[in-house]
This record gives sequence, structure tokens and C-alpha cells, in this order.
Amino acid sequence: MLRPEDREFFFPLGFFFPWSGVSRQKSLDDRSIHDPKLNSSPPNKLSDGNVIFIGKAPIKWEPVDVTPILKDGKTAIPDEAIESVKRNYVALKGPLATPYDNVDTVLIRENTEGEYSGIEHVVVDGVVQSIKLITKEASERVLRFAFQYARSINKKKVRVVHKATIMKMSDGLFLNLARDIAKEFPDIEFDAELLDNSCLKIVTDPTPYNDKVLVMPNLYGDILSDMCAGLIGGLGLTPSGNIGNECSIFEAVHGSAPDIAGKGLANPTALLLSSIMMLQHMNLGEHAARIQKATFDTLAEGKVS
Ligand SMILES: NC(=O)c1ccc[n+]([C@@H]2O[C@H](COP(=O)([O-])OP(=O)(O)OC[C@H]3O[C@@H](n4cnc5c(N)ncnc54)[C@H](O)[C@@H]3O)[C@@H](O)[C@H]2O)c1
Repeated sequence: MLRPEDREFFFPLGFFFPWSGVSRQKSLDDRSIHDPKLNSSPPNKLSDGNVIFIGKAPIKWEPVDVTPILKDGKTAIPDEAIESVKRNYVALKGPLATPYDNVDTVLIRENTEGEYSGIEHVVVDGVVQSIKLITKEASERVLRFAFQYARSINKKKVRVVHKATIMKMSDGLFLNLARDIAKEFPDIEFDAELLDNSCLKIVTDPTPYNDKVLVMPNLYGDILSDMCAGLIGGLGLTPSGNIGNECSIFEAVHGSAPDIAGKGLANPTALLLSSIMMLQHMNLGEHAARIQKATFDTLAEGKVS
């Protein structure tokens, strides 16, 4: 809608925000903790000079960042963006991919073998072979843990994610062992799903996975855990623990993030939540709860630092 006073002059347009779905993780990670204004060139915002592109139309742009922020524990459009629309009446908005609310996925992966066994060799020049190692011992260990963990957190369903239709022997062994171990846990419902099917369904709607513990071989878990991290705002938010029979190591899901090293952009939440998982594992629940509350309260404030 044009305001009468603007007709003869530049027409201020609401907000322009070229945000692609690909940058969902990066933007939320960065914005939840870091002030995008500190960035000389935020990754998902065109500079003013680039925005006048509609056939030299006499439009004066008012670029506003519409990356969702956390407000009272919920993702919300920043007030500045809403005020801009109200002030200017018209807005051109870039696509906005919003992380899902209410995601409560537990994903357990085998973490010692599979494609990560590191057994590779050259068969002949130009032909290499990589061995996917699946053993009864490691599979039973992770499968039994998944059922025990489901029970301990009151989840009533365990689902094996596999590709036994193609990898009939390796994933087939994993799946058959899962069926056997399920019999030891009659109180837990058990089923299985093909990996590609799980991926499609989780990104379409993760809520049906809230009541399940997913368990899978190593590589599938590596990929699916990053994908699930994307559903909630990125690697910078996602904790993990490597649970052994005797020793356990807790770590953020992400790697060393060389692309943002030294830039003051890394989100510390994943590491903080991983240390909370460690405290829970050590039966230091009270300490864990205190730090968890402080972390969630800080995120809910939606302030940046
Ligand atoms: N568990 C591990 O030790 C582990 C896991 C993954 C990768 N790595 C290693 O880390 C190195 C880099 O790997 P990569 O770049 O593929 O993966 P990465 O997890 O380091 O980074 C992937 C993306 O996530 C972003 N990101 C990661 N941590 C973030 C944080 N705390 N806050 C905000 N954004 C964050 C990065 O900027 C990058 O865009 C490699 O050497 C890889 O082998 C280690």
C-alpha cells in the first residue's frame, strides 16, 4: 500500500532479506549468541548497494534482518522487522526456513566400527575397496544400550534405522540382533525403518519421532545426527556423549569449525549441553539441572553478546 506522501518520492520498502534455507543452521547458531551487527558482512544479508534491482524502480530500500531470534523461549521475528513492515506498509521478503519447535529426538549410533573401521585397500589400480565392519559384539552393545536408555527416559519405542535391503549381511546382522534384543525388553515397542525413509520423514515432520529412541550403525548415525541438528538450529546447539562399557566421552556434535575459527562466532551451547549430559551421567543431576536452567534461561532471553 502506498502512502500518499511517498508517491512522488522514493518509496520506502519494508524489509528485504535474502535468506536461503541452506543457511538455517548458520544463521540460528550465529544469531542466538552473537550480534550480527558485529559482522561487517553478515552472510545472509545483501549490502544496500545490491538491493535496488527491480528495473531501476524508484524504491528506497530499508534492509532489515528477519533471522528468527529466541524470545521467551520461542523463535520469533525480530521486532525491528515487524516495525519496518508497519512503518512502510510493503515488504519484499527472502525465503525463511524456520527450525521446528518441539523436536525431541534421541539418536543413538554405534561409534567404533562400520565404515569407520578404516579398512581400505587398493584392489587394482583405479579400484579401491572399503570394508564396512559390523560385529555381533559391538552391535549388541549399542542395541542393548538403546533399549536400556529408552526405558530410563520413559520412551516406549525403539526404532532401528538400517539399509538391510541393500547391505543384507552387515545391516542384516544389525537388524536381526535388534529383533533378538527387543525380546529382552517386552515393555518397549520395537520397529525398523529404512534410512532414506527416516530422513525424508524426519525433515518433513520430526514430531512422530519424539516418542522414539533411534538406533543405527555408525555412518548412518553420523549423517542423521547432523541432519537432526539442522532441525533445531544447528551443530552449535547439539550435544552428544560416547558411552562405553567403562569409559564415556562427552562432546559437541560439531567439529573444529575452521571456517569460523578466531572470529568470535562459535556457539558454545553444544559444548555446555554436552557437559550437562556428562554431569547427568555422573549422577550429578542437581548440578546438571542448575547449569541447564541457566543455559535455557539465557537462550530464552534472546539477547546477543
Ligand atoms: N567429533 C569430532 O571430533 C568431529 C566432528 C566433526 C568434524 N570434525 C573435524 O572438524 C574439522 C572440520 O570439519 P567440518 O568443517 O566438516 O565440520 P564442523 O562441525 O567443524 O563445521 C560444520 C559447520 O558448522 C559450523 N559450526 C560448527 N560448530 C559451530 C559452533 N559451535 N557454532 C557455530 N557454528 C558452528 C561451522 O562453521 C561449519 O559451517 C575436520 O577436521 C573434521 O574431521 C571432528
